[in-house]
Amino acid sequence: MKKILITGGAGFIGSHVVRRFVNKYPNYHIYNLDALTYAGNLENIVDIEQKQNYTFIKGDIVDADFINTLFKEHQFDGVLHLAAESHVDRSITDPLSFVKTNVIGTMNLLNAAKEIWKGNYEGKRFYHISTDEVYGSLGETGLFTETTSYDPNSPYSASKASSDHFVRAYGETYGLPYVLTNCSNNYGPNHFPEKLIPLFINNIINKKSLPVYGDGKYTRDWLFVEDHAVAIDLVFHEGKNHETYNIGGFNEWQNIELVKLLCKLMDEKLGRKAGESEELITYVKDRPGHDLRYAIDASKINKELGWKPSVTFEEGLEKTIDWYLSNEIWLKNVTSRDYKKYYDNQYNM
Ligand code: NAD
Ligand code: DAU
Repeated sequence: MKKILITGGAGFIGSHVVRRFVNKYPNYHIYNLDALTYAGNLENIVDIEQKQNYTFIKGDIVDADFINTLFKEHQFDGVLHLAAESHVDRSITDPLSFVKTNVIGTMNLLNAAKEIWKGNYEGKRFYHISTDEVYGSLGETGLFTETTSYDPNSPYSASKASSDHFVRAYGETYGLPYVLTNCSNNYGPNHFPEKLIPLFINNIINKKSLPVYGDGKYTRDWLFVEDHAVAIDLVFHEGKNHETYNIGGFNEWQNIELVKLLCKLMDEKLGRKAGESEELITYVKDRPGHDLRYAIDASKINKELGWKPSVTFEEGLEKTIDWYLSNEIWLKNVTSRDYKKYYDNQYNM
């Protein structure tokens, strides 16, 4: 039985990946390592906690001794590394915690994998899950490809870029078998309501204002989280060693247009009158260093591995809204505790 470590599996994307691997691969034992920060939530994976081929481990990837001991004890065959500090706005107020988790944490995992595999890399693989934000900002045209130069602008993207460089450096220097993917903006169930889509869904439900940064003309490419999980599965099993794949939704939206669509769909779902939620839109102070546009060219993963998104944006948004409307308790739980303090600080209310 192969032993696979997934880090960050109590978070948004990680929980979808862990569920897929536990259910689809009974011949793997999946170890889910997560520190359960504000973004980690065992409620995201409650349906798999009793599975025979699954173990949850609470722990911090920044703690090198703990990580080394864990790797020695379990002798993992593969690592899917998703644990990270992931929110750009938080990286602006607390950049150091991003360096700790995203850079040092990744280094600790690389060192531990190198140490237990000792150059015997047959059947071993380190998969680093990263972001398109490492490429910086596009103008009105163009797409990020796998050969686009790195040009990160936020502390978050700088920390992810640094971790990407270390993964490749371990591949070149020590021969560590790695694959790396850079993905665009995900959305879907279990998304913590600090990010645009879940934050605005929660605010619309509660008739709170919708804080659009700057002029709202910033553009992102959106991908349904389950489609990302499928791509991750494919790259882990069929991607070529030492290769990078861009993953994207072929689905660019200006923030303001996306917010208007979300308002329309929510009004329909909530039985509110047309245009009611749009009245909540409030333009607020811009995010410092705000990247204008991200857009991914995902043709490499499409041509080489046959992956493409399966869900249209309207379908994905509808599934997402339905999930939030039928998971009121989840939403209440994650918006209690420290959330209110974060929200008030971030939006000065
Ligand atoms: P998330 O913030 O929802 O979850 C991160 C998880 O990592 C949480 O469960 C948290 O408890 C855990 N974690 C944080 N610090 C840790 C530490 N020191 N030790 C152990 N666990 C720790 O993030 P997400 O949106 O699911 O993103 C997952 C990964 O995918 C990240 O690496 C992120 O950079 C990348 N990514 C995210 C997106 C996106 O749109 N969300 C897009 C592309 C890439
Ligand atoms: O591109 C991939 C990245 O997408 C991931 O690597 C990150 O982990 C993930 O958080 C996401 O980053 P963004 O900064 O693009 O996502 P966010 O949801 O924070 O913001 C999306 C856009 O919406 C961005 O242009 C900022 C804007 N925004 C966001 C918030 C939270 C607002 O206008 N108002 C808000 O309140």
